[in-house]
Amino acid sequence: MTMLASESIKKLLTTKTLGKITYFFEEIGSTNEVAFELARNGATEGTVIVADSQTKGKGRLQRRWISPPGVNLYMSVVFRPSIAAQDAPFLTLIASVALAKTIKDTGIDTLVKWPNDVLINGKKVAGILTVMQPRGDEVDFIIVGVGANLNMTREMMDKEMGEVAETATSLREALGREIERAKFAADLIKQFEMWYQKFLKEGKAPIIKEWIKRWGGINRRVRVKFNEIVVEGIASGIDENGYLLVKKNDGTTERIISGDVILF
Ligand code: BTN
Repeated sequence: MTMLASESIKKLLTTKTLGKITYFFEEIGSTNEVAFELARNGATEGTVIVADSQTKGKGRLQRRWISPPGVNLYMSVVFRPSIAAQDAPFLTLIASVALAKTIKDTGIDTLVKWPNDVLINGKKVAGILTVMQPRGDEVDFIIVGVGANLNMTREMMDKEMGEVAETATSLREALGREIERAKFAADLIKQFEMWYQKFLKEGKAPIIKEWIKRWGGINRRVRVKFNEIVVEGIASGIDENGYLLVKKNDGTTERIISGDVILF
């Protein structure tokens, strides 16, 4: 079992702001919830919360994120960008690019699936949950939570994940070796800082360019569900804001801000 603790992560950090303040918990409900509370109480940009296990790990759309101890990475980061509230979901794309790069450095390519999945061989290896606290039309703070399946074995996934096990994978399963968790966390924080700074300086375009290179859904038939609304068509791209573009059978294109995507 590889160790994970704030000291072991901090020793490896080369960042300017991200992770300079890092809280580590052996077990916590959800790192996103802790980060949200800390941010509400003034936690500064770049504060990182890492846990070895979560008892109430949250996925998108009220799903659970299976978070057993000793194997994976569960991490949330506080951001305070001066951007419009409607641009907050863009941080999910920044996180996807940071994850894809970090995973690439371990020796394997990933694809991304809009809006928040990172896939290896079509199976989900990591997910991102972004929540935002607005102040008027602006952002007060954004919490970006990352869950990455690092060292879970196939047996563990089958046992702990129920029916989603068959759509999930881990880096260990894909690479056939264990991942040093603290190093992975430090590398991810570094990538995250780099791409976030790029976004602040150069805007969305460089991130969209990186993201789209790894997008497994381009020109695929998709069904997108958001609450009761279902849109079907061809995923023709993402726009300059990172919203999904779906070309419907009637020839018109729908811009999707949030939803659950099924690829065919
Ligand atoms: C998803 O794919 O649905 C998003 C999963 C996000 C999971 C991470 S684990 C760290 C952080 N804390 C949470 O409770 N959720 C996110």
